[in-house]
Amino acid sequence: MALSPQWLDELRARVTLSTVIMRTDKLQRAGREWKACCPFHEEKTPSFTVNDQKGFYHCFGCGAHGDVIRWMTDQRGMAFMDAVKELAAEAGLDVPAPDPRAAERAEKRAGLHDVTAAAQDWFRTQLHNPAGAEALAYLRRRGLSDHVIERFGFGWAPEDRNALSSALDRFDTSMLVESGMLIAVDGKAPYSRFRGRVTLPIQDARERVVGFGGRILADVEGAPKYLNSPETPLFDKGRTLYNIHRAAAASRKTDRVIVVEGYMDVIALAAAGFEEAVAPLGTALTENQIGLLWRMVDRPVLCFDGDKAGQRAAMRAIGRALPLLQPGKSLSFVVLPTGLDPDDLLQQQGAGAMEALLGKAHSLLDMLWLFERDAAPLSSPEDKAGLKQRLIEHCEAIQHPDIKALYRRDLMDRFSDFAFPKREFQPRQPFAKNRPWSKPGRAEPVSARLKQLAALGTRDAFLRAIIAGLARHPHEIAPHAEALANLQPGDPNVAAAIETLLDVSETLEATGQNPISGADSLVPVPDNTRFSFLMEGSDPQTVREDLAEAIALLVERPAIEQAIVQTTARFDSDPEGAFAEQQRLRKRKLEIEARLGQMARKRAGAAAPEHNQDIAPAHAAGSDEQMD
Ligand code: UTP
Ligand code: MN
Repeated sequence: MALSPQWLDELRARVTLSTVIMRTDKLQRAGREWKACCPFHEEKTPSFTVNDQKGFYHCFGCGAHGDVIRWMTDQRGMAFMDAVKELAAEAGLDVPAPDPRAAERAEKRAGLHDVTAAAQDWFRTQLHNPAGAEALAYLRRRGLSDHVIERFGFGWAPEDRNALSSALDRFDTSMLVESGMLIAVDGKAPYSRFRGRVTLPIQDARERVVGFGGRILADVEGAPKYLNSPETPLFDKGRTLYNIHRAAAASRKTDRVIVVEGYMDVIALAAAGFEEAVAPLGTALTENQIGLLWRMVDRPVLCFDGDKAGQRAAMRAIGRALPLLQPGKSLSFVVLPTGLDPDDLLQQQGAGAMEALLGKAHSLLDMLWLFERDAAPLSSPEDKAGLKQRLIEHCEAIQHPDIKALYRRDLMDRFSDFAFPKREFQPRQPFAKNRPWSKPGRAEPVSARLKQLAALGTRDAFLRAIIAGLARHPHEIAPHAEALANLQPGDPNVAAAIETLLDVSETLEATGQNPISGADSLVPVPDNTRFSFLMEGSDPQTVREDLAEAIALLVERPAIEQAIVQTTARFDSDPEGAFAEQQRLRKRKLEIEARLGQMARKRAGAAAPEHNQDIAPAHAAGSDEQMD
């Protein structure tokens, strides 16, 4: 018999736990609680507590823990139903009569599972019949291997409206309708829901088929690409995640769950080795689905397209999650390159690109901040007040008091830094690694931003030279945007400078403007350097090549430094290997420095003689130089 959770709560509320316990064990008052030596284990000092407000007992010694029903079953050794009956009698509650309809529903569901399982077998067989050849070819054309086609249970639903009902005629028509396999319209014979579509089984956490997705072979303008099973006693879209049965197991190994938008994304990820992916079924994530994700891991990663629709989808998920946030439980966000879903990304750029994006996931807080910061211009006090209000409203949605307070504090700090920048240059926000949705052409004009670069005070002359070079040749920024964005310099001023350069570049791209005049005076050339990209009248090709090389070296340098540190740490376990590796790294470091020195002395137009020997190469300050 199924007792509803509401009825059980009512029962617990009507019985005072301490009264029940005191029938067999002595309790002592301790503030608002009761104390005793634990009835579940031998002890001399009391570590057993009873809290009537919460309706729970707990032993700090042995961990025994439970409510009044648990007390009756564990301490008194009663069967669950007997305990419930005895407590209900005491509380003056009637135990609800067994619900015959509930039992019937459970039985019916079991029957419907048989229907969907049979339908799945049949669809699968159709795919491998001659009639399914076109569908099979379609799947292969999409790059799916036979192994993946088999593993994910792809099938084919033929055009024939009656084929499925004849194949499954051992089931009552009413069951075929109720399981969503047939459509029944008044007065007409029920006919197949899925026709002329590739089918995919949707399974629950226990691997039972609960519904199907079906895709047409050739996209037709205006026609729905996918058709899913309707809501049935088996299939509740808001409580189902595609691929959850495989992802749950895989997530225990990887401690990660990736949430994507489509079935095909899940499958492409699995084929590329990311087994722990799930997708909702064509709807925004529900609270229930977020709960399912949190049962697997603390911070599921949600992937969204970098376009406007992706932004809105991410914000919808954030809106759902804020009230539910709990200590340790959050979401993180991966922003995909605009116009690519994970399936496209994997096909075009491979698993490494996906892994790299996953490594750069944003926190929920960052995502929220970036979205609101860029949602509207910020040129008037009213605009600023608007931003502040939106941020506060998000905080108000958070139910957990500590999390609410911490969000509020953090967001208000970011708001003040952004809306009222300090006079000396301060980064406006933590350096955003892949800068999602940063709008080109934010409030300040390019020249004002460049001026901020002039205030840059890094001790790294090489870095300073590159920044000055890019300011003079801003069209060279875009090709290196990725590398620059990934630099993550430790110095916040440098981070802010790079951020500014990237903004400038986006503004130029967006507006088709020409390079900024006056960059030379705005961002002065560091002393004693003759990089081609800092000299008047250099050959453009040389400038392009030198900047590319300089940036590559800039990226490699900290990586080498870091690798040297890591080999040092390995000296104990692997002295020979670590030594050899360190020698190799040191050599490479010297090569980089030599090359930098050479470039710094180079005159515009390349092959010029090295007549200016007193130039300090960029690395000359030696090992105390800030590496960033
Ligand atoms: P997408 O349009 O992103 O599909 O829809 P996709 O996964 O990239 O599919 P391919 O690559 O074109 O085959 C994402 C999800 O939205 C639901 C489906 O669940 C799909 O997986 N959807 C989409 C529908 O339910 N109906 C539709 O017509 C389209
Ligand atoms: Mn796709």
